[in-house]
Amino acid sequence: MTERAETADGIVYLVGAGPGDPELLTVKAKRLLEEGDIILHDKLSGPDILDRIDPDRLEDVGTRGHGDTTPQSYVNERMVELAREGKTVVRLKGGDPTVFGRGGEEMRYLADHGVPFEVVPAITSAIAGPEVAGIPVTDRNHASTFSVVTGHEDPNKEESAVDWEALAATGGTIVVLMGVTRLPEYTDRLIDAGLAPTTPVAMVERATWPAQQVVTGTLETIVEAADEADIEPPAVTIIGDVAGTRETALEFLATNYE
Ligand SMILES: C[S@@+](CC[C@H](N)C(=O)[O-])C[C@H]1O[C@@H](n2cnc3c(N)ncnc32)[C@H](O)[C@@H]1O
Repeated sequence: MTERAETADGIVYLVGAGPGDPELLTVKAKRLLEEGDIILHDKLSGPDILDRIDPDRLEDVGTRGHGDTTPQSYVNERMVELAREGKTVVRLKGGDPTVFGRGGEEMRYLADHGVPFEVVPAITSAIAGPEVAGIPVTDRNHASTFSVVTGHEDPNKEESAVDWEALAATGGTIVVLMGVTRLPEYTDRLIDAGLAPTTPVAMVERATWPAQQVVTGTLETIVEAADEADIEPPAVTIIGDVAGTRETALEFLATNYE
């Protein structure tokens, strides 16, 4: 419902931070981070980007004390409150703001409350994560489609929101975001659905952050490999033949991240 008794003099920019390397921010995101009155952010934007912003303008809406997540309703209300105070608000999100980022929900909330907003697209980890590790999500010889799915599902849901069987049948590259905890479950499901256990898999943790880590294997070995390497979120999982092409590029892949 529209609630426009009060209109806002300020504005909210829903800004994507990209995967974390400050040099991968868009020119517009960089300008807004310099000019914004307040930056509402979570940890996914990465330490190198957040460390460059004056701490007085930073407000962490990712976690609260004791590691709890800030409710989305608080973030929504805070954006409206600040815009009504006439502030230029930057709502900074890791990757692209509308890829599993609640950008859509926030746009609708702002519109419903009469707050002007603009969306600033960015590089998503779904493509950049594989890419900086030497893995193209499409490749003329290996994959002409790619699917981006979530591995994080509500354990109380009876049915998976992701149709793993259909993904296995489609072929192409499967990119899983939020897919560390449930790696054993979805790799098993893909094998059960007919993908070869030898299908190449790679995981890229903290892509473009100073501590980037890459681990490779196959559908049947990746769980053990990820455990051994102690892979933790945020990480992106890449499943499909493209994940196996990395080795050929590795010798000459210059990176500042690993
Ligand atoms: C809530 S989703 C947000 C995705 C984000 N909007 C994007 O476009 O990249 C969070 C997930 O994105 C992935 N992710 C985000 N940044 C990452 C990074 N720098 N390296 C690896 N994975 C990343 C991880 O799978 C993480 O669990």
